[in-house]
Amino acid sequence: MKLPKGLAGVVVDQTKVSSTKNAVLTYAGYPIKELKDASFEEVVFLLWHTRLPSSDELTAFRKRLVSEMVLPDHTVQLIARIAKEPQHPMSILRTTVSLLGTTNDVKRDDPPRILAKMLTAIAAIIRIRDGKPIEQANQNWGVVKNFVYLFSGEQPTAERVKMFNTVMVLHADHEFNASTFTARVVASTKSDDYSCLTAAVCALKGPLHGGANERVFEMLEAIRETGQDPVGYVNEQMARGRKIMGFGHRIYKDGDPRAVILRVIAQKISQETGNDEYFALQEQIREYMFKKTHLHPNVDYYTALIYHCFNLDKKTFTMMFAACRTAGWLAHVIEQQTEGCLIRPSSEYVGETNRHYPNKEG
Ligand code: ACO
Repeated sequence: MKLPKGLAGVVVDQTKVSSTKNAVLTYAGYPIKELKDASFEEVVFLLWHTRLPSSDELTAFRKRLVSEMVLPDHTVQLIARIAKEPQHPMSILRTTVSLLGTTNDVKRDDPPRILAKMLTAIAAIIRIRDGKPIEQANQNWGVVKNFVYLFSGEQPTAERVKMFNTVMVLHADHEFNASTFTARVVASTKSDDYSCLTAAVCALKGPLHGGANERVFEMLEAIRETGQDPVGYVNEQMARGRKIMGFGHRIYKDGDPRAVILRVIAQKISQETGNDEYFALQEQIREYMFKKTHLHPNVDYYTALIYHCFNLDKKTFTMMFAACRTAGWLAHVIEQQTEGCLIRPSSEYVGETNRHYPNKEG
């Protein structure tokens, strides 16, 4: 029997949350290219209820989420103690999510509350790392405007909110990706939501998954700082057996539909913020990578530049991914808890057999 490496192509369960069938990403049946301008709150509601909200439901949902975008002082103080250490922000987030699940005032297993606390905690980690004060959410704004304000300390323009909203919508879910599957495995044991999210953050952290966006920007900086020819950089890295970050995908062999939409945003915002040299570099790498490998950019390729244009430190890029994907993680955790059973696959043993422990008495 030939085993599929890394479960590639293996259907392990059913879901009504999202699909990548025929390389078209849909959330509860709606293609993401139609949802890209829907509000993040509307999309979160869709993922959690597999239907769009009515206008009243959306208003109430938004209000509830924003009302929860606050952290008790002592939780901020605890986060500050961890965040000041010279740790990678994803390590800080991993501990923070776990911490949120142990503080008595954060009720467990309440998805709107958990999502709001995650966004607020991520923004707080960024502010603490930057040595800036923690801002308070404005109850009259939506979730995305508040989130950008909380991490940047600046009220974003309507156009920037729209851009970030699209980024959040496109990252919100992606069926059984590595971090979501991890969350589902934990949920399948009937563990609590914070435990599921802590595990998901651990899986997202790796460079083959959410950690790729940080490496994409490292690559762009390295090329720009050294003035190296991007073609030479790609050839050199690949000759050393290294992958070019932000390219390739387990599901999308003919291109990631999210990257197509994000490329347009990256081009616009990089021009508006004087970062168009980075975009030009990305275009050169993209063209050469296609010529050399037929690989296309994935979702992480352009978000790296978009986050940079939002003045975010590259070390925090993967936390941004986590902020957006929490919506999907929770959708899958809810589905797994209500409809799933224990996930416990089998393995093929390929080690030594017929060994015997020596009798030490004789
Ligand atoms: N750069 C160079 N070569 C690559 C790349 C890349 N980015 N991606 C794939 N390849 C090559 C592999 O070396 C392999 O070549 P081979 O057949 O000669 O050995 C072939 O293409 C197939 O690649 P696999 O890694 O086996 O494909 P898989 O489906 O397992 O991997 C993955 C997908 C992990 C995303 C891979 O493309 C990769 O490592 N990309 C770089 C990291 C990255 O951008 N990750 C983010 C993915 S999107 C997300 O998680 C949100």
